[in-house]
Amino acid sequence: MTTDKDACELLDADHIAVKHLFVEYARLAMAAPAESAGERQALAEKICSELTVHAQIEEEIFYPALRQALGADDLIDEAEAEHQQAKELIAQIQAVGAAGPQMDDLVALLARAIEQHVKEERDVLFTKARSVSGLDLVELGGKLKERQGELQGQLA
Ligand SMILES: [Fe+2]
Ligand SMILES: [Fe+2]
Repeated sequence: MTTDKDACELLDADHIAVKHLFVEYARLAMAAPAESAGERQALAEKICSELTVHAQIEEEIFYPALRQALGADDLIDEAEAEHQQAKELIAQIQAVGAAGPQMDDLVALLARAIEQHVKEERDVLFTKARSVSGLDLVELGGKLKERQGELQGQLA
């Protein structure tokens, strides 16, 4: 399976998509906290499942390729620790289940954590990935896309 997007472009498209979901969640929580509870709950579920798939394809495919090509183990260790923190917030959100002040606070916390993590991926990891030779980002993008499709199929 091939793709036009390279690995960094594919991962960043996910980052942008989930950012839109966070913005929409926050807008609804502010504008219509009571009326939008069902919609926020659906958004929270979508945010959690998309981030879970995204983190898994990074951990299975992208980060190991970066470790091999860059030897930047400390940076990758840090990114994986941030994934762990995000997974704990995701588990808490999923445990709350229904939208309300508690879920709103957790989603806002997750949004901030992800924003910081994404900034580091963009500014540091993607920049390094693009500058190192011997890393075929287009081939890697194809592998990410294929695995993403499998995992999304399992969740559906
Ligand atoms: Fe990540
Ligand atoms: Fe990412």
